[in-house]
Amino acid sequence: MRIAVASDHGGYELKEKIKQHLIGCGHDVIDVGTDSTSSVSYVDYGHRACEKVNDGSCERAILVCGTGIGMSVVANKHKGIRAALCTNAFMAEMARRHNNANVLVLGARVLAIPYATILVDVFMSEPFDGGRHQERLDQIARMEDEACE
Ligand code: RB5
Repeated sequence: MRIAVASDHGGYELKEKIKQHLIGCGHDVIDVGTDSTSSVSYVDYGHRACEKVNDGSCERAILVCGTGIGMSVVANKHKGIRAALCTNAFMAEMARRHNNANVLVLGARVLAIPYATILVDVFMSEPFDGGRHQERLDQIARMEDEACE
């Protein structure tokens, strides 16, 4: 799968680890930055990654900032993005099975790197259950259309 990864300075180290992990699992990774621990705005990088999903060049994205909160706020401003800020494996599983999340958001100051990697694996492997959950996603899509009119 082709995955966009992005972080601010607070998430840089974890983003680098996730990138290497994804490559090691055979995924194609597009890293939209940041490329150091120098202070930057998470808004710029979260936006770039979501654009990669929305223009079709990536199927999913993984975003990392200090808490994950800023990145999740930014990501969910994008039409068609369903970003899930997850702090445990159950949330990552449900984000895929019930919400068909196309963006995983992690807090680097919240999660230890080995555990964050487990959440990435769950996000990458769990399917969407469809059914009644698709009806709810359709409802969200209609709401987005109305909001954009
Ligand atoms: C950066 O210090 C921090 O505010 C950012 O990484 C993130 O936690 C924001 O939500």
